[in-house]
Amino acid sequence: MAAVLTPEVRVFPDLEALSRAAASGVAAALRSAVETRGSCAVALAGGRTPRRVYEVLAESHGTEVRWDRVHIFWGDERYVPPDDPQSNYRLAREALLDRVPIPAANVHRMPTERSSPASAARRYEALLRRHLGPRPRFDLVLLGLGADGHVASVFPGSPAVAEERRWVIAVEAPAGPRRRLTLTLPTINRAARVFIIVAGPQKAAALARALMGPVDPWRHPASAVRPVDGSLVWWTDEAAAARLPGRHRHEGTPAGGAARRRGP
Ligand code: 6PG
Repeated sequence: MAAVLTPEVRVFPDLEALSRAAASGVAAALRSAVETRGSCAVALAGGRTPRRVYEVLAESHGTEVRWDRVHIFWGDERYVPPDDPQSNYRLAREALLDRVPIPAANVHRMPTERSSPASAARRYEALLRRHLGPRPRFDLVLLGLGADGHVASVFPGSPAVAEERRWVIAVEAPAGPRRRLTLTLPTINRAARVFIIVAGPQKAAALARALMGPVDPWRHPASAVRPVDGSLVWWTDEAAAARLPGRHRHEGTPAGGAARRRGP
C-alpha cells in the first residue's frame, strides 16, 4: 500500500516571492523527470494565479530544462477557442510556451473546437493514454485553488467529484465559462508530484479547509487531492496562509528549496 505523504506547505511573503519559488520548484521537477525517465509529462493549471509562475519559469529557468523532452498537457480547460482571452491554453502560450524552445508537437492542448465537449473529453483521454500508457501518471500536475475549494474544474457538488473511471470529463462550471474539460480527481491523485499554487486573502478559508478539515470531495474537492504514490506541495503566500496554525506552515526559502517547519 503506497504511503500517502503528508502535504508540505511552503509560505512566501507575497505573490512574487511565491511565483519565483514555485517556478524554481517546477523547473527542478521537470529536470528530475527528464533525468530519471528521459521525458516529462506535466499538466498545467489555468486561472490567474499561475501566470507569474509561468513567466518566471520562462525568464529565469528557460535554459535549465530540456524542453524537447517535456510534454505539456492541461489539467482543465474552458470550452472556448484557443485564442480566447479565457483560454488556459492561451494563458500558458503567452506566459511560457512562446518563450521557451519547446517543439509544437510536445504541446497537447485540450481540443475545444469540437461541437461536443463530451467527445472532446474522450479524444483527450485517448491522447493521454497514448502518451502515458495504461495509468495516468503525470510527472507533475499543477493546480490552483478556487475560493469554493475546487481544483482544476472539479467543483463542489459536481458529478465530476464521483468520477472514478474516466481520466477526462466534460463538466458544467457554476461560473465563468460554464462548459469545461477537466482531469478527474483519481487522475490527479495518480501523479508523481502535485503542486497547488494559492495566493490572496480570498483563498485563506479554502486553504485552511483543504489542509485541516476532513477529506470531503463532495463539499471540498481540494481536500481530496492526496497523491496515492506521489508528493503534494502547497505553494502559498502569507495572505492565503493567514488561517493556518504554525504546525501546518513551513517558511518557504526564497529559492523554493527545502522548507523549514515553523511552530511545534
Ligand atoms: C481554471 C482553473 C481553476 C483555477 C482556480 C483558481 O480554469 O480557472 O483551472 O481551477 O485554478 O479557479 O483560479 P485563480 O488562480 O484565477 O484564482
